[in-house]
Amino acid sequence: MDKTIIISNRLPVQLQIDNGSITAIPSVGGLATGMKSVHSGGDSLWIGWSGLTDEEIPDGLAPEIDKALAKHGSSKVNLTSEEVDGFYYGFSNRTIWPLFHYFLEYSEFELQSWETYKAVNQKFADAILKVAGQNDTIWVHDYQLMLVPQMVREKRPNISIGFFLHIPFPSYEIFRTMPWRKEVLMGLLGSDLIGFHTYDYERHFLSSVRRLLGLEVSFNDIYLEDRVIKVDSFPMGIDYKKFSEAAKKHDENKTGERSELQRRLDMHKESDPEAKFFLSIDRLDYSKGIAKRLNAFEYFLTKYPQYKEKVRLIVLAVPSRSNVPQYQLLKKEIDELVGRINGEFSTVSWTPIWYFYRSMPFENLIDLYTSSDIAWLTPIRDGMNLVAKEYIATRTDKTGVLILSEMAGSANEMNEALLINPNNFEEIADTLYEAINMPVEEQKARNAILQKRLERYNVEKWANDFMTSLKNQKLIDHSYKSR
Ligand code: ADP
Ligand code: G6P
Repeated sequence: MDKTIIISNRLPVQLQIDNGSITAIPSVGGLATGMKSVHSGGDSLWIGWSGLTDEEIPDGLAPEIDKALAKHGSSKVNLTSEEVDGFYYGFSNRTIWPLFHYFLEYSEFELQSWETYKAVNQKFADAILKVAGQNDTIWVHDYQLMLVPQMVREKRPNISIGFFLHIPFPSYEIFRTMPWRKEVLMGLLGSDLIGFHTYDYERHFLSSVRRLLGLEVSFNDIYLEDRVIKVDSFPMGIDYKKFSEAAKKHDENKTGERSELQRRLDMHKESDPEAKFFLSIDRLDYSKGIAKRLNAFEYFLTKYPQYKEKVRLIVLAVPSRSNVPQYQLLKKEIDELVGRINGEFSTVSWTPIWYFYRSMPFENLIDLYTSSDIAWLTPIRDGMNLVAKEYIATRTDKTGVLILSEMAGSANEMNEALLINPNNFEEIADTLYEAINMPVEEQKARNAILQKRLERYNVEKWANDFMTSLKNQKLIDHSYKSR
């Protein structure tokens, strides 16, 4: 039977080995959480990296690892620690990630890590070629694997390949600074369909193709030799039902067993019903603007001192890419900022910032979403930002305010949120004030529209739209070839 093969660096779970036993931990990040919902509903195979290097897998445990992944419909590509250094910590996260998020000054252009990136992309391509039948559909994901489409195409000229980029595609002026810009574009053009979250990313990509490769581009079709490649935007949705139903269950369980976290949140609400919780959830990443958010919070408390002891900011930061120096520096900066602000403003009965540096189980995420009056998300650049969508989906009584950076892809679809520029502290402080004082009726009106839209454009629809477009593109390409 024809199948869909999903391929990404991260699998839906990451494996860990403790005292010889294997544990599977759900992966964090928009790609994994979104695709997990699509994958669990179908009979696709997901190929990726298990999170363990070859050196970390003890002799004889490899078959157990394969079994553990097979339970999640997944199969692994083996990577040595040297490959992980050059490919993942190196080219993916020290070159492409900062460049594509407009942190040009953080981008390193090192030949050695580019070479490793190419070699590892070839490994992923080989893993696909090993299992793919001629009529299978290959869906490649994200910036770690941009050369894979072309590598597969070389060996299987007629197979159907889709690629989706989960991060921004930068403007031509930024992209052109990369030494291997043409190779990256050619790698992507091995696909039949290339998808982005927003029209702007699509536009930037087409501009780079036109200007760097000089190819013929007509609307969103690219002509390359005897092939026609389509480029389009597909804003990724969330598993709306999963979040809204979990929140409903959470509401119904008010008298039942509550998590420790929820009990603490309830306690604070009961002691001061007027108090407000602000929530921010992100991977600990410089693109998320966490440090700026903390500074803006300090500014807010200074500008509107009447809210001292009345508001509390919950910062949930998930450890991420901690071998990359910029992430280590950021961790230090945030630790210090939280310490300084809490030191400056705390009273015996009030700590302004609650800071968690860890991953949390799904149930606790729901505790936080449902207990927070305001979600405050201020990325400096973000491909989409699914947390914004998840917060809205959990607001069963439709109350709650979302403050969202204009620089997040999701801001394009969430006009009813309060949109801010993450660099404008004055605007942010005033928006927090507005959010605290927003009448309940207005909150409900805004969220009703947002919920309707998110429910309709959910992750399943996103995946179906992409797959349908890929199928149609293949037909167009066939008829183009046989002209
Ligand atoms: P990114 O993909 O850049 O990390 P997104 O906001 O698009 O940003 O996606 C983050 C995903 O990770 C969301 O689906 C969110 O639920 C999940 N997540 C974020 N923080 C945590 C956490 N502390 N524990 C578990 N999952 C988390
Ligand atoms: C973003 C990227 C994903 C990545 C995720 C988590 O969502 O688009 O490709 O998987 O961040 O980052 P990590 O480096 O832990 O895979």
